[in-house]
Amino acid sequence: MTVVTDTTEPVGILGGSGLYRLLDAPEPVAVATPFGDPSDPPSRGTFAGRPVVFLPRHGADHRFPPHRVNYRANLWALRSLGVRQVVAASAVGGLRPELTAGTVVVPDQVVDRTWGREHTVYDGEGPVVHVPFADPYCPRGRPVAVRAARAGTLPAVDGGTMVVIQGPRFSSRAESRRNAAEGGSVVGMTGMPEAAIARELALCYTSLALVTDADAGVDVESSVTHAAVLEAFARNVVALTAVLHDVVAALPADDDCPCRHVLDGLDLPASVAGP
Ligand code: ADE
Repeated sequence: MTVVTDTTEPVGILGGSGLYRLLDAPEPVAVATPFGDPSDPPSRGTFAGRPVVFLPRHGADHRFPPHRVNYRANLWALRSLGVRQVVAASAVGGLRPELTAGTVVVPDQVVDRTWGREHTVYDGEGPVVHVPFADPYCPRGRPVAVRAARAGTLPAVDGGTMVVIQGPRFSSRAESRRNAAEGGSVVGMTGMPEAAIARELALCYTSLALVTDADAGVDVESSVTHAAVLEAFARNVVALTAVLHDVVAALPADDDCPCRHVLDGLDLPASVAGP
C-alpha cells in the first residue's frame, strides 16, 4: 500500500447542529455547482495544522432543515475546492441504553430511511453509475476517527449502524423501537444521502456522531426536543472539536484509498465526473 501524506490537500469538515463555526480566520469562498448553492460559501482555513475547508451543512444560521440541505451542492463544492477526504460531524439520538448523551460514535453502517431528497449526482446525464456502498464509510478514515475519539475525553464507540430518518420531526416510540430492533445504534437526520453522494464523488467520508439524547424508544419517560439536542451538543462541543482536531491531524492523505477509485474505468463526461 502506498500511503501518500499530502498535507497540502485540504480536509473537508461538515458541521452539524451546534457546530456552525470552527476556524479562527475563515476565508469564505463562493462556489457555483451544477446543483445550486451550498448551504453557505465554504470557508478555507487551517485546523490542526492542515488546510481545511469547513461547511456547516445547515448553514451558519441553521436555516436549512435536514430535508432541505443541498447535499449534492455541499459535497460538490468541497470537492471543487480540492477536498478528497470529508469528516462529517452530526448530532444523533441513541437507540441503545448504553449510548448515552455525550458518547461519540464512529458508525460503520447506515440505514437510509429518508425519502424525497435529491440523493444522487448521477441523475440521467451520461452513463448509468452504480457506486459500491456495502461499506459506506471510509476504511482509512474510520480507524483514525476511532483512535482520536478514544484518546479524547468523551466515551467513544467503534462502529454501529446509523439510521437516517427523514425528519424534521423526531421518531415515534414505535418507529424508534423498530429502528433499534432492526439493528440501529443511533438515529440522525442528515447522514443520508450525504454519505452516498460523497461516495459518488469519490470522496473519503468519515462520520463522527455525537449522541445528544436517548431516542423515544429508549427514554420512555420523555420526548426528544430540538432544544435538548442543541443543549447537549453545546455541552460537548469543545470535547468533540478536540476529537475533530485529532482526526484531521492524523488523517492520511491516501491516494490508494478505495473511496477515491470508485469511478475508475468509467468514461464519465466532465459535467458529471465531479469537479
Ligand atoms: N438528532 C439528534 N437526536 C436525534 C434523534 N433522537 N432523532 C433523530 N435525529 C436526531
